[in-house]
Amino acid sequence: MASPTHILGISAFYHDSAAALLRDGEIVAAASEERFTRKKGDPGFPAHAVAFCLREAGIGAADLDHVGFYDKPILKFERILETYLGTAPKGFRQFLMAGPLWIKEKLFMDRQLHDALGYEGDILYAEHHESHAASAFFPSPFEEAAILTMDGVGEWATASLGVGRGNDLELSKELLWPDSLGLLYSAFTYYTGFKVNSGEYKVMGLAPYGEPKYVQLIYDHLIDLKADGSFRVNQEYFDYLSGFTMTNGRFDALFGGPPRVPETKLAQRDMDLARSVQDVCEEVMMRMARTVHKATGLENLCLAGGVALNCVGNGKLLREGPFKRLWIQPAAGDAGGALGVAQLIWHRQCGQPRRVTPGKDAMKGAYLGPGFTDDEIEAYLKSVGAVYRRLERSPLLETVAKLLADEKIVGWFNGRMEFGPRALGSRSILGDPRSPRMQAQMNIKIKFREGFRPFAPSVLRERVSDWFELDCDSPYMLLVAPVKQERQIPMTAEQRTLWGLDLLNQPRSDIPAVTHIDYSARVQTVSRDVSPDYYDLIRGFEKLTGCPVVVNTSFNVRGEPIVCSPKDAHTCFMRTHIDGLVLGPFLLHKVEQPAWEETRNWKQEFQLD
Ligand SMILES: [Fe+2]
Repeated sequence: MASPTHILGISAFYHDSAAALLRDGEIVAAASEERFTRKKGDPGFPAHAVAFCLREAGIGAADLDHVGFYDKPILKFERILETYLGTAPKGFRQFLMAGPLWIKEKLFMDRQLHDALGYEGDILYAEHHESHAASAFFPSPFEEAAILTMDGVGEWATASLGVGRGNDLELSKELLWPDSLGLLYSAFTYYTGFKVNSGEYKVMGLAPYGEPKYVQLIYDHLIDLKADGSFRVNQEYFDYLSGFTMTNGRFDALFGGPPRVPETKLAQRDMDLARSVQDVCEEVMMRMARTVHKATGLENLCLAGGVALNCVGNGKLLREGPFKRLWIQPAAGDAGGALGVAQLIWHRQCGQPRRVTPGKDAMKGAYLGPGFTDDEIEAYLKSVGAVYRRLERSPLLETVAKLLADEKIVGWFNGRMEFGPRALGSRSILGDPRSPRMQAQMNIKIKFREGFRPFAPSVLRERVSDWFELDCDSPYMLLVAPVKQERQIPMTAEQRTLWGLDLLNQPRSDIPAVTHIDYSARVQTVSRDVSPDYYDLIRGFEKLTGCPVVVNTSFNVRGEPIVCSPKDAHTCFMRTHIDGLVLGPFLLHKVEQPAWEETRNWKQEFQLD
């Protein structure tokens, strides 16, 4: 028998570096570098992620048949160069600063990758949006589908649309830099005082507290949106082409003041701005989706690119858009490009067929990162003097379900780590969604983050339509849907007079901890065949409470990457007010643990002070 073909895909040097490995087309491993280095969004060469992928496959770099990189550095360099020279002399200063870095890290990518990997073969480069498109279509459960990718920017493209059939895909239309939906959203992220490239989620979460007051202003001055979803951005209001910030004085004048200083109190205006850019983003998504629907006549749509993490927009697309089915790559951001380029090599370069199982994607629940043996976990627990018990599966699940029903907060570390930004029941912190205190408690005492941030529910797949206005798979928590109407608690006349964050503490449904201010929820459906332990835990919680839903938030504190190892999880457990910790078959209660001696100023490290 011929030896299997191993393909390594890499994304790096922009943000969120990652590696992914295929064996004969099957996804064996994929992980982001940040999880290993503990540096959020680590853009460096993903040495740890590559080492993990090789280890998982049981091979060395010399055994790799192909290595692919998720974008084309020369094209990107060309864009950078033209942008800076086009805006000289103002941009020249930044070019001088960025130039040597680009030349070092990107133009000589080949040599760097060879040196870093110890791999001598050819390195293949895909275009950035082709990588996104491949990561959206190839692992999808569809034989054929329309494809839409949207992000900040790759080389030149900022959005693309096309079609995937069988084992290939074709992108037929592109929107080009500097007209970018991702960057428009990021500009408002910056302007409302959040961090670009990670704060976009907060803007989306803040949007329902605001009114769409600035929508018309955005259309009148910032973007010229066409019927097909393409648009021109008026660069007079932005500074990302040449400066060090996203917006400029003209932008400030248009919206009546300077950007919010990060960490200062949120004003109604910030919420109105968030709502307005969210509305515009949804409209662009909708128009682009209609265009690709018209061009392909297909019923399935695959999405990827950073904008595809906008789960509110995705939910609306599913409810109101022209497609019957959506599939969204869980690692929709640039990390997913590592997987995309590997799959492009397998299907396009190697000409290998795609085997599609209808209704089932090829992502293995996104549980593609490192897992740890019971022995490894126990050795760590012993080394730190932790007090723990080992339980058989059934008593463990029953005990944890009982803890949750008693309003305890539990760190849940089970199996292989997720690939992509969402925790999906492998590296999660869980709570009782029925508790009116849970949202504030988890936000402030566990995550050290803004109280308005909503939590997401994990619900048994077959119960989803009993609790939410949704009746399809949403395994990757990338669709927002309303809580079922009969479970909503209508606002009183008095509550209706409240504004913005004052609305936060009013219970909105019988699962208030996961019900956003506008009655929406970011739903994860859990199936037994994909996540048996997590499924049976929720099932146990349902038996005790009648509620097949738990709160699922990522296992980390604000500013920290999601935990990867037992050490990361145990450290996070000890630093926060998490009551119980499950590490594989081991259960720890906080009250039984010895005093925790902190060795680092972690609050400062994660900028929590
Ligand atoms: Fe991208």
